[in-house]
Amino acid sequence: MEIKKIDLSNILQLQTLGKATFHETFAAENTAANMEKYLEEGFSIEKLTAELSNKETAFYFANIDQHPIGYLKINFGNAQTEQQHDDAMEIERIYVVQAYHGKQVGQLLLDKALQIAKQKAAPYVWLGVWEKNQRAIQFYIKNGFTIFDQHVFMLGDDQQTDFLMKLSLVD
Ligand SMILES: CC(C)(COP(=O)(O)OP(=O)(O)OC[C@H]1O[C@@H](n2cnc3c(N)ncnc32)[C@H](O)[C@@H]1OP(=O)(O)O)[C@@H](O)C(=O)NCCC(=O)NCCS
Repeated sequence: MEIKKIDLSNILQLQTLGKATFHETFAAENTAANMEKYLEEGFSIEKLTAELSNKETAFYFANIDQHPIGYLKINFGNAQTEQQHDDAMEIERIYVVQAYHGKQVGQLLLDKALQIAKQKAAPYVWLGVWEKNQRAIQFYIKNGFTIFDQHVFMLGDDQQTDFLMKLSLVD
């Protein structure tokens, strides 16, 4: 397996993988209408083009035989979804297709994210995770993250609570 930075030439693969993994993760606990709205807007070609073109954002695929089975999206500076974090790095998305869960693919993507954050001398890494997403919360706790706040996330017209978690990279 390889972790590879992607660019605009991978946009269709990213759109397919992004929609599929978001749907797999959240469809069971959300209405079809809210899911559809989020998938249409959150993974539109316009939005992905802007994100892939943003110098303060990076996407990586986890590839097996050049086929993506997971991806990572990280943000720096103004690309972070909250503005008070200055020099920190945000992990906005880590998604692995369900068939590969529990096989360390997410761990490799997280390790890659932490490696980049250290290279860029980010003081800490932070992320938002749905309060009901226990598997992901456990995964982050296992990796040393702690909850420091919460914020509202709109999935369609449903107002949800995300926990904000962070991992300090300085002593
Ligand atoms: C969270 C996620 C990225 C973790 O990736 P992963 O590759 O499964 O990570 P790991 O292999 O280290 O496993 C993480 C934990 O999942 C659990 N797990 C193990 N096997 C599993 C399986 N077959 N199915 C489901 N969960 C399993 C275990 O608790 C494991 O922890 P352990 O290593 O201490 O046993 C992945 O589960 C995922 O993509 N989930 C859906 C998307 C998502 O929720 N993303 C985060 C949004 S903030």
